[in-house]
Amino acid sequence: DHTNRARLLAANEAAREWFIEQLMTEGADAGRRFLGERGFDAAAAERFGVGYAPQGWDNLGKHLRTRGFTTEELSTAGLTSQGDRGSYDRFRGRLVWPIRDQTGQTVGFGARRLFDDDKGPKYLNTPETPVYHKSQVLYGLDLAKRDISRSRQVVVVEGYTDVMACHLAGVTTAVATCGTAFGVDHIKIMRRILGDDTAGLGEVVFTFDPDAAGQKAALRAFSEEQRFAAQTYVAVAPDGLDPCDLRLNRGDDAVRRLVKSKKPMFEFVIRQKLSNYDLNTVEGRVAALREAAPVVADIRDPALRPGYTRELAGMLGVEIGDVERAIQASS
Ligand code: CTP
Ligand code: MN
Ligand code: MN
Ligand code: MN
Ligand code: MN
Repeated sequence: DHTNRARLLAANEAAREWFIEQLMTEGADAGRRFLGERGFDAAAAERFGVGYAPQGWDNLGKHLRTRGFTTEELSTAGLTSQGDRGSYDRFRGRLVWPIRDQTGQTVGFGARRLFDDDKGPKYLNTPETPVYHKSQVLYGLDLAKRDISRSRQVVVVEGYTDVMACHLAGVTTAVATCGTAFGVDHIKIMRRILGDDTAGLGEVVFTFDPDAAGQKAALRAFSEEQRFAAQTYVAVAPDGLDPCDLRLNRGDDAVRRLVKSKKPMFEFVIRQKLSNYDLNTVEGRVAALREAAPVVADIRDPALRPGYTRELAGMLGVEIGDVERAIQASS
């Protein structure tokens, strides 16, 4: 049966080992150079199991078939695809990050192209398989889990390289989604690890790229916020940097400072909305209030609304009554 879980996990594990061996070969010098330019030395690559998928159509496939895996198993595991001329490797000429579940088993891969003009997307990921569901994995959780439950804090970043940079900088509670938005299943995983008790809520710190995708991700996370049973914060790096670039340009300490610079998510989202208006004018404040009021109106926990109403009034410099009326009008 080519959908047997244990077999698919074994195929992923064998692929992971092979990718790591390939990173040492001559053909992988562009891959090693890429890692070096990102501030990752050999020890860092080893810690995260980064490997290399060589150019060529059937290198991994050939290797794994000699190890006893069938073409169907490899294709079901998402390691190969079926074309007109037979089976070919999904990942070619890319750096490869193993994606592991909480117990450390490799369930899939994320793979980055090395050159901007390479064909295909910047990142290519394992498709949905019987053992890989992107909505249910957090990259880095196997490494971060213990420190997350100990510190009751989780730091959510956007990419594989950002997770590496955070951990290397000492932020060992960092995880990332794998080529998908942060969703309800990710929240469930976090709730389990942060603990759901009333003995003080844990905290979730999101760092989003200051680009359009990052802004969208922030708003989406905020709309799910009340499912967290944790306090949610946002930290945005200066000058359009993501955590990986921040570490590269400003050092480990800047990454640690980034996490400490966290602001409550509500404040972040509201500030984003207010930034479109001139709050020095009455017209600007009225328009800003009209845009921000629905955010407060949407807060599901009624016990939280008065506090946020006050906060919004403070940020806008208007009376609480004005905000209350705007909230009523918007809902
Ligand atoms: N991503 C993806 N497919 C793409 C682009 C991005 O799956 N075509 C996912 C990857 O998981 C990536 C994350 O979204 O890590 C964040 O995207 P981006 O900010 O573009 O990636 P970086 O990790 O910053 O990329 P780079 O390697 O250039 O630093
Ligand atoms: Mn399943
Ligand atoms: Mn981005
Ligand atoms: Mn990056
Ligand atoms: Mn990025």
